[in-house]
Amino acid sequence: MKTQIKKSWAEPYKMKMVELLKMTTRTQRLKAIKDAGYNTFLLKSADVYIDLLTDSGTSAMSDRQWAGMMVGDEAYAGSSNFFHLEETIRKYYGYKYIIPTHQGRGAENILSKVLIKKGNVIPGNMYFTTTRLHQELAGGTFTDIIIDEAHDPLNSHPFKGNVDLDKLDKVVKKYGAKRIPYVSIATNVNMAGGQPISMKNLKELRAYAKKNGIRIIHDMTRVAENAYFIQQREKGYKDKSIAQIVKEICSQTDGATMSAKKDALVNIGGFLATNEWDVYEDARNLVVVYEGLHTYGGLAGRDMEAMSIGIVESLDDFHQQARVGQVEYLGNKMLDYGIPIVKPIGGHGIFVDAKAFLPHLTQDQYPAQTLAAEIYIDSGVRTMERGIVSAGRKANGENYYPKLELVRFTIPRRVYTQAHMDVIAESTYNVFKKRHKIKGLKMAYEPKYLRFFQARFDKLG
Ligand code: F0G
Repeated sequence: MKTQIKKSWAEPYKMKMVELLKMTTRTQRLKAIKDAGYNTFLLKSADVYIDLLTDSGTSAMSDRQWAGMMVGDEAYAGSSNFFHLEETIRKYYGYKYIIPTHQGRGAENILSKVLIKKGNVIPGNMYFTTTRLHQELAGGTFTDIIIDEAHDPLNSHPFKGNVDLDKLDKVVKKYGAKRIPYVSIATNVNMAGGQPISMKNLKELRAYAKKNGIRIIHDMTRVAENAYFIQQREKGYKDKSIAQIVKEICSQTDGATMSAKKDALVNIGGFLATNEWDVYEDARNLVVVYEGLHTYGGLAGRDMEAMSIGIVESLDDFHQQARVGQVEYLGNKMLDYGIPIVKPIGGHGIFVDAKAFLPHLTQDQYPAQTLAAEIYIDSGVRTMERGIVSAGRKANGENYYPKLELVRFTIPRRVYTQAHMDVIAESTYNVFKKRHKIKGLKMAYEPKYLRFFQARFDKLG
């Protein structure tokens, strides 16, 4: 009999330096989370053991990236690191004109101001918090055109980031193409649980958009993770490299915003890209107002150098296999424990279904916010609410009630070990066993914008 050898996802790197962590007691954590108003964003990171708040800006840079920091050219204008970044983005992503920004939302702000006029409608494959807010602040209205499956945590559609072209067609018929400055497409949709869009769907969307004279703007924050899923799941792509697939994805779009703090393995940075000279000209003018000169956009030269190197490292097939492999390892452990998570397992983290975990709480009692606080108390693992608090309020003041009420366990890239993944799953199971005794929260303070960052809560009962 032939022995089946399991191919592991082990990392294509080794450790050279470690960051020591503070270990805390349950009593210390109970006080810390109460002081933080039961909001994990308001915890001090020194009180956190394993930090899964976000995969944004939390990656471990490589020795080569750190070496790149040493060749930072800190000239105010025309830094050589900018030209290296421009060349890298053109070569690997294929966009023509590039403007660096301090992070993703800097690019979103500028692009929204350039492209959106009052009364415009922006269809997209699920909202992202900062992206939608900038679209709204520029006078537009976001409308969701993702497939229905994306809103069902149990549906295991392999491409839950796909666009429903009938939904898009209805939006176009209702408002007219002239009122739609672009379709907003995220690769590996964050709020759906790190779920990919297929190349087939993207190409169909491209054909539809072209016919109707509508641009596609690409939120490419996690494009390499999306490419990995296409390579693994989509017919015709298993022999293509991540780099080839990423370039093909970008070629289906007219421009992009990027938070390089995720895929591109840097602690700070982003950019805006476009293939249209007019858009570039307007954006290049606006960036001076909000970020800095168009050859640094709020970044130091060394940050741009680390980004150029990180972009190339993110496109390595072994890197993505280990990156997504680690997330899948954690997800499968959670499933073994019977913990309800979004399926299929996503690219950048595990999303626990808080409605199913705490079915005795109503959505107004903030099940995901509650669960994130309970997991922190149990083990010092910090996660993030992605439910009713994150969804915020509509322009008329009413709460959004999103179907997905999730706790996100986001895995930083190249930072934690397999044993850390075990601790996370065990702690979640520990909370799962006593879930019936858990009481909800009520909001005590609500900021106007992006309330999830700074809201405070009190314990019910
Ligand atoms: N687009 C997506 C899909 C994102 O996930 C983020 C950030 C942004 C845009 C904004 O980029 O933070 O660099 O300004 N997501 C982080 C997260 C905050 O934790 O998911 P930014």
